[in-house]
Amino acid sequence: MQKPSDEESARAQLRESIIGLGERSIRKSYYPELQQRISELEQANAELLFEIAERKRAEQVRDRLEIQLRQSQKMEAIGALAGGIAHDFNNILSAIIGYAELAQISVNTDCSEERCRVSKDLQGVLQAATRAKNLVKQILTFSRQQTGERKLIEIVSIARDGLKMLRSIIPQTIEMRENFEIEEAMVMADPTQMHQIIMNLGTNAYHAMRETGGLLVVELVQTFLSKNDPKIQSLHLAPGPYVILRISDSGMGMERAVLERIFDPYFTTKDKDSGTGMGLAMVHGIVKNHGGYVSVYSEPGQGSTFQVYLPLSVRKGPEENAEKESEVCGGTERLLLVDDEKAVLEIEQRILQGLGYQVTAMLKPQDALALVEKDPEAFDLLITDMTMPGMNGAQLIQAIRKIRVDMPVILCTGFSELMNEAKASAIGVRQYILKPVTRFEIAMAVRRTLDGQGEC
Ligand SMILES: Nc1ncnc2c1ncn2[C@@H]1O[C@H](COP(=O)(O)OP(=O)(O)OP(=O)(O)O)[C@@H](O)[C@H]1O
Ligand SMILES: [Mg+2]
Repeated sequence: MQKPSDEESARAQLRESIIGLGERSIRKSYYPELQQRISELEQANAELLFEIAERKRAEQVRDRLEIQLRQSQKMEAIGALAGGIAHDFNNILSAIIGYAELAQISVNTDCSEERCRVSKDLQGVLQAATRAKNLVKQILTFSRQQTGERKLIEIVSIARDGLKMLRSIIPQTIEMRENFEIEEAMVMADPTQMHQIIMNLGTNAYHAMRETGGLLVVELVQTFLSKNDPKIQSLHLAPGPYVILRISDSGMGMERAVLERIFDPYFTTKDKDSGTGMGLAMVHGIVKNHGGYVSVYSEPGQGSTFQVYLPLSVRKGPEENAEKESEVCGGTERLLLVDDEKAVLEIEQRILQGLGYQVTAMLKPQDALALVEKDPEAFDLLITDMTMPGMNGAQLIQAIRKIRVDMPVILCTGFSELMNEAKASAIGVRQYILKPVTRFEIAMAVRRTLDGQGEC
């Protein structure tokens, strides 16, 4: 290799120092901008990381909600099926019980040896039929076609009573703690069913800790679900204040495969003598029926937490409520009332007339439709039953809306036609009331439909 001449190396040295000088001056002049750019990039990076974490969190929430939604749709389907069967079965059972009772009356009048034997057999029939009746009642509760007797109740004292009852059946190896964040909370509910919820969830927690002992915590917390809460939207709940009854245990917890089935009727992991698998199905049915929902968190070996959300009643107390009931609002509007059951029609007509309304009562939906065809402006409001021969309430509403598009409507439904906000609004109904209808309910519904509020 040829050695570079002195001149060449001097030139190279000069070039290096010029470049170095250039770089230094470039770095110097760009330094603040470079720093600025670096910190911008760092910030963008942090924002990106935060966004990724947020997205992951949102995805987890969405996954959980999807599972809950699937579960609730599945329960809805099983409920509708079971409820339909239970309804028909109830009618058959009524006949069995009725005839058995009649037969027993006739054999009991003269109790010869033969007749006494028949009477005993009939007793057996009645006992079995009564068991079947209770079973049907459970299924109807689960499928939400049976509402119990609702009244304004203080959920805190119900929970305290429930805890006392639980303490008497749960052994001392299990510690029980209560943590009530609220002093009073009124819920419009059936107190017996609220007890059922606490007892079912409590005994499940006890069973999960039976071998090992552990801790059972019952909490009451108040919360508010806003209109934008994903739970409100996906589970069709009403926005507003809710009370959460939370029952947690430190027991064995559940695998995902079990978790997915726990609300199914007759699903149990217990042996035949200790579980029927109806406990959580009942809880689910009752809570849904009260306008709430149940959520559950559990991991194998990590215990379980059940949360029951129940809508809080805005009304303060029974006295205030009684006052309200007595001051129901009336009006003078012209109402068209349709129900194929004479007794119901008569009662509703008398209630509404008593409130000052001009009521035209029709037994047949076809006749009601003919009246509207004759004079579309003759009525201010239609109140119709749902199930009627020839033309049901929804069909009547549709036919009338063709003649008078803005006709306000109230739909009265029985427990057999499961109705919810979504189904009602699908047929263009904003107000629906469940039979048997009270004077207060119908009066409120009429005013709410006619002027958007039920208050006088
Ligand atoms: N707290 C809990 N910890 C662990 N597993 C539970 C818990 N609660 C419920 N499970 C599981 O869910 C199943 C269904 O519960 P569910 O209350 O519906 O029926 P059950 O307790 O088996 O019977 P039943 O309540 O009719 O006596 C249980 O068999 C059990 O496997
Ligand atoms: Mg149970």
